[in-house]
Amino acid sequence: MQLPAFKLEEYFAKYEFVAKYMLGSSDPESHFMHQILSMADKECLALWQNLNLGYTETLGLPLLREAIAKLYQSNAKEDIIVFSGAEEAIYIVMQSLLKPGDEVVVITPCYQSHQAIPQTIGGKVIEFALAWKENTWHFDLEKFAKVITDKTKLIAINFPHNPTGFQPAQQVFREIVNIAKKHNSYLFSDEVYRLSEQNPAATLPNAADCYDKAISLGVMSKSFGLAGLRIGWVATKDVKLRQKLAAYKNYTTICSSAPSEILALIALRNKEHILQRNVNIAKQNLDLLDKYFAEHQEVFAWHRPSAGFIAFPRLKISMPIAEFAQKLVDAESVLIIPGTLFADTNNHFRLGFGRRNLPEALAKFSRFVDKLNLQEI
Ligand SMILES: Cc1ncc(COP(=O)(O)O)c(C=O)c1O
Repeated sequence: MQLPAFKLEEYFAKYEFVAKYMLGSSDPESHFMHQILSMADKECLALWQNLNLGYTETLGLPLLREAIAKLYQSNAKEDIIVFSGAEEAIYIVMQSLLKPGDEVVVITPCYQSHQAIPQTIGGKVIEFALAWKENTWHFDLEKFAKVITDKTKLIAINFPHNPTGFQPAQQVFREIVNIAKKHNSYLFSDEVYRLSEQNPAATLPNAADCYDKAISLGVMSKSFGLAGLRIGWVATKDVKLRQKLAAYKNYTTICSSAPSEILALIALRNKEHILQRNVNIAKQNLDLLDKYFAEHQEVFAWHRPSAGFIAFPRLKISMPIAEFAQKLVDAESVLIIPGTLFADTNNHFRLGFGRRNLPEALAKFSRFVDKLNLQEI
């Protein structure tokens, strides 16, 4: 099976550890290990200090699965399987469910694996595009209802959304679930940015709580900001699917990292504190971005997201976004992600607002824009 190059990851590989300012990252400010360990309760501290570095359970540490299950309303520990990051879970879910010729509907633009893995399997992938109209993102529910048919084997959604930052209303989300139910389609719901909502009341339900054929994807990397743990998970009530996923995992990582499982458990037991800290940084940064973009409306179109750590503004001048991003990183060591890496053709770029050094990065970004001779472009 020949997977295509992962454009975003290859772009990051080139710049992530070279550029000084990550203004395109989707994960927020991380924590140091000593900070996580300092949050450990007695039980976790004992687990950490007596940790044996042997193999761990394929489905995940039972205590960790229990802590993950608490993020759901109706899913229990048994419904959870731990994976090495969300990426491993996406791969295994798609491989376990799809065969050549299966019809898959994917919301675009999207995290590349949602589309590339079904395509590589030989699936018939139908893109359902979010629309950028009047400076904001739209999901056309009526159109969507017509695209989904009894032939739709799987629907891949991702809210809060990468790269646009789009978050539908709860009613729209419930309708999407109903449409999947009506056509008996699997609903793969990538929820890695869930729990980063600036208004907690706007948090969407977990798909796996709403529908037996839904698969909710979670991870420690995004809302929790602990990408280095490489701990992700799937929640689903579909027992047969869970058996397939566990069997497949024996051919990928077998089990997750023992130290990471304990660190993830500690973080989940302190979730309110960690999540709130990350949302607070995002909110402060967004206030700065609102101000900056309001003062630069001739150059950028901006929509403030209500969740997640990424926005997808548009460069309104004629310079192609790939060239703009390249010149910016060369001149100021500030990395943004050109929308072209998400197959966008409308000069959008991904801007990350979860890092503490955003004020500095924005100052460099602003200096770069001021120096562009906009008349000549
Ligand atoms: C929507 C989405 N899903 C999955 C992933 C993969 O997460 P991880 O790197 O933690 O495996 C990402 C990473 O950017 C993402 O944005």
